[in-house]
Amino acid sequence: MTEILLEDLPGVGPATAEKLKDAGFNTIEAVAVASPAELANTAEIGESTAAKIINAARQAADIGGFETGDMVLERRKLVGKLSTGCVEFDEMMGGGIESQSITEMYGEFGSGKTQVAHQLAVNVQLPREKGGSNGSVIMIDTENTFRPERIKQMVQGISERHGIEYDHDEFLKNIHVARAYNSNHQILLVDSAMELANELKDTDKPVRLMIVDSLTAHFRAEYVGRGTLADRQQKLNKHLHGLQRFGDLYNSAVVVTNQVMSKPDAFFGDPTRPIGGHILGHTATFRLYLRKSKGDKRIIRLVDSPNLPDGEAIVSVTTDGLVD
Ligand code: GTP
Ligand code: MG
Repeated sequence: MTEILLEDLPGVGPATAEKLKDAGFNTIEAVAVASPAELANTAEIGESTAAKIINAARQAADIGGFETGDMVLERRKLVGKLSTGCVEFDEMMGGGIESQSITEMYGEFGSGKTQVAHQLAVNVQLPREKGGSNGSVIMIDTENTFRPERIKQMVQGISERHGIEYDHDEFLKNIHVARAYNSNHQILLVDSAMELANELKDTDKPVRLMIVDSLTAHFRAEYVGRGTLADRQQKLNKHLHGLQRFGDLYNSAVVVTNQVMSKPDAFFGDPTRPIGGHILGHTATFRLYLRKSKGDKRIIRLVDSPNLPDGEAIVSVTTDGLVD
């Protein structure tokens, strides 16, 4: 299969292609999902030209139009389940973390969101018969909490549990980490991720997992005060749609984290609320609420899913990783 380049799109000459790339639109997929205004502004072209280019990119990338039910069914047939390595957790998820879906993990500080993310970054690389997706992972790290040392320990743990000597250096090589310095940068990194996923698509380690840890921290820090909430919501929605598209295009699971603050003074309802309200409520497909329990135990509750009953699973966060 020959890759379609920006230059191949009607209306895009070498100069425009250069401008698009400079603005971060490196692939036809990135162009296909842009809005005309956005493209016009960043690439300094007219809005009607931008709209034409976007249409051409959509056709070339085969996205953006309607899908018939049988097409959706075909795509859904590819859905993979990534094992968490924990029996109860997997069962609650109907087998594991689904590809082509966004799974949100929310919980207080220290509830284990980053630990689960690290464990999934390891598990996704395992062969299918070991519950993995034989893939690589892209991690957008907004809080500088990625720790290669933890990956090593977790690979060691899995080696012991599986009785197979896995090489932790190989695992580290298949984790592509990018620091996001602010919310705009974070959004742009999804485009870079598409580019990378494109490059890895036909290799023996295609991208099968995208992690954004934390999805919301930058947005919270940058958008404070009532007047800016709508702006924040709009930006976050756009980001989430970009992530959903990433999952669909590359048959990848998408896992995002969201911190919440405990409110022990709340008498009614859930004492734990996301700091900025339920900003993700309707966009994430699966929502997992993580809670600390005794010692290294964590309670993970499935609170929202399109096709699974709500439920709870207990896991342990140990030096060797996430275990039953
Ligand atoms: P925030 O990002 O602050 O919202 O928290 P989080 O939900 O991401 O928490 P995280 O996953 O970082 O969990 C931190 C907790 O995991 C620690 O308090 C420890 O209990 C546990 N943990 C982290 N590393 C290790 C380790 O190497 N060994 C063991 N046994 N536990 C660990
Ligand atoms: Mg964390």
